Amino acid sequence: MCGIVGYTGKNQALPFLLNGLATLEYRGYDSAGVALVSGAGSIEQIKCLGRVAALKKLCEEITVDATCGIAHTRWATHGEPSNFNAHPHSDCSGQLSVVHNGIIENYQELKQELEKAGHSFKSSTDTEVIAHLLEENLQHEAHGDMLVALQLAISRLTGSWALGVVEAREPHTLYVARSGSPLVLATTEDGAYAASDITAFAGITNHVVNMEDGQIARLSYSKDSGATCKIFESDGTSVSNPDTFDIDWDASAATMGGYPDFMAKEIAEQPEAVRRLLKNRLTPDGIRLDELDISTDEIAAIDRIYIVACGTSYHVGLYARTIIESWARIPVIVAQASEFNYEEVLVTQHTLCIIITQSGETADTLASARKMHAAGAKVLAITNVVGSSAAREADAVVYVQAGPEVSVASTKAYTAQMVAAVLLALFLAEKTGNMRLKEVCTKFQELERVPQLIEEVLTRGWQDEAATPAFIEANSSLFLGRGFGATTAAEGALKLKEISYLHAESYPAGEMKHGPIALIDQGFPVVVVCPDDHVRYKTISNIEEVKARGAVVIALATDGDQKVAQISDYLLLVPAAPEYFSPIVGVVHLQMLARFVALARGCDIDKPRNLAKSVTVE
Ligand code: M6R
Repeated sequence: MCGIVGYTGKNQALPFLLNGLATLEYRGYDSAGVALVSGAGSIEQIKCLGRVAALKKLCEEITVDATCGIAHTRWATHGEPSNFNAHPHSDCSGQLSVVHNGIIENYQELKQELEKAGHSFKSSTDTEVIAHLLEENLQHEAHGDMLVALQLAISRLTGSWALGVVEAREPHTLYVARSGSPLVLATTEDGAYAASDITAFAGITNHVVNMEDGQIARLSYSKDSGATCKIFESDGTSVSNPDTFDIDWDASAATMGGYPDFMAKEIAEQPEAVRRLLKNRLTPDGIRLDELDISTDEIAAIDRIYIVACGTSYHVGLYARTIIESWARIPVIVAQASEFNYEEVLVTQHTLCIIITQSGETADTLASARKMHAAGAKVLAITNVVGSSAAREADAVVYVQAGPEVSVASTKAYTAQMVAAVLLALFLAEKTGNMRLKEVCTKFQELERVPQLIEEVLTRGWQDEAATPAFIEANSSLFLGRGFGATTAAEGALKLKEISYLHAESYPAGEMKHGPIALIDQGFPVVVVCPDDHVRYKTISNIEEVKARGAVVIALATDGDQKVAQISDYLLLVPAAPEYFSPIVGVVHLQMLARFVALARGCDIDKPRNLAKSVTVE
C-alpha cells in the first residue's frame, strides 16, 4: 500500500518520478505528490487528491529545475484522502520532505512529544511525525547530519516503513530507509533510483539492490563520482555486500499492449503464463521442482502442512489443500494470514508452511511466515515477484513466472499459482510414494492441455458479456458451488465484488439452505459453478432450489450439459477437463464475467475504489 520513488542524477527528476509513480499506482491511488529539491536550495512540493494523472497535470503548470526528488502515491491508513494528508510531508521549516509507505504505530505518543517541543502539524497522518522527528534530531543530537538524524528517528519508530527523505541543503542527495515495507534501489550512469517495487525501473535497469529491514541508504550524484548508493545498517555500519538481483522482465510486460485495461490483458495472458510455468517440469524421474531443495526423507517426515495466504491467494490455498491431501495424503490446514497470526499453531520440526502471495509483500502473509519460522517450521513461498520479501523470508521459493500483474484484481497470478500448487502436489505425491510415476506423468500431460482449454474459454467471453444484464439492476448476488466448485465460486464472488462493487456472497451450494437461501427472490442473480464432476447431480438440485424461488441462474457448466442448460437462464460453458483441473479453466469465465459487469456498471477496472494491489500494512 502506497508507492514511493526517489531519484537523484544528471537528468531532471520529475519525469522518472511521475512515470515511476504511474507504475506503482496499483499500490494505492487516493492522492499523490512529489517533492523536488531545486538547485537553488529549496524544496518544491506539489500534491493533490486523486490519481497520478491529476498530479501530472498539476506538474505541467510549474517549472522547477531539480535533479533530485521523491514522490508518493497513497492508500490512506491514517487521515482521510485529502490534499493535506497527501505525501510528501515536511517539517516546520519546510526544509525537508518525507514520503512513507507503512504505518507508524506509535505516532500519537511521538506527536504529543513533538508538539510539546513546539512542532506544529499540518496533517492527520502518522507519517508527518517522521519529518518533525528528523527536524528535531538535525537541530540537536545529529548536529545537522541527516544520516544520523535518520538513524535516531528510526530508533524511535514502531511499525513499518519504506521512507524517502530529501533536504533542501543537499540538492543531489536522497535518503531512504526500510523496515517491513519493500524498497529497491538501482544506480545507472544517469543517476540513483529508489522505488517500492522493481516495476518502476522498467526500461531503466535490470540490476536491482534489495534493501534489508533496518537498513538506511544515501543515494547521491555528482559530476565527478556519478551515481553512488551507500547502504548502512541501523547502527551506522556500512554494508559492503548488499543483496542484489537481476530482473528478467522486459519493459513491455508492464504496459497495456493494446488492451483496453490491464485486467483484460492479464486474463488473456493466462495460457502463456501456464505454459511458461510448465516448461521443463517433467523429467523421467518425475516432477522437477529444483527450487524445493528438500530431501525425500524430509518429505516423508512432513506431519502437516499449513498454507497461509490472503484474498485470491487464499483461494489458491483451498484448491491446493484438496489436491495435496488427496494425492500426497498429507494433512493440510489452510488459513487466512490475518487470522492465522493471532491463533495458536501446532508446529513440529516436521511441519511445512506454504505461503502463497502474488506480490510477495502482503504484510499479514509475511508475518505468518515469520511466525512459522520462529516456531521451527520450514517455509516455502509460492510467489510471482522475484526478490520480493516473501521470497527472501522463505527457505525455498517457487516462482509462478506470470509476469507483472498490474490490475488490482488478480487473474493470471491466480491460475499460475494453482498450477504451481499442482506441481507441488504431484511432487509430494510421488516422493511420499502415494502416486506412481506413471500417474504423475499422466496427470502432468493432462495439465499440459490446460492452456489450450483456457484459450477455448477465452473465445467465449461473449457468453459472459451476454450474462451481464442479470446483474445490472441487482443489489446483491450469490455464488454457489460444491467441492472444487465452491473454491471457484469464492474466487468468482471476490472478483465480482472487488471490481463491480456489487455485493457477491459465495457459499457451498449444499450449505445455502442453512441461511443464504433467504436472500433469493424474483430476479436475484445466482452464479452456480456446476461442471461435470462427481457432485454435479447434487449441484443441479441446488440450481432447481434457487430457480424455484425466482433466482436468475448463471451456470458455469461443461459443454453439452443439456440438463444444466434446461434449468439455467445463462450458460458459461467450459470444455470438458479432468475434475481436478477444471477450477483452473472455469475461473477464467468468472474473471471475464466480473470484468463485463464492472464495465457495464461504469467502474474502473484496474483500480477499484479503496483497494491496493499490495497490502503492505496489517
Ligand atoms: O499479493 P498477494 O497475493 O499476497 O495479495 C493477496 C490479496 O490482497 C489479493 O489476492 C487480493 O485479494 C486481490 N485483489 C484479489 O483480486
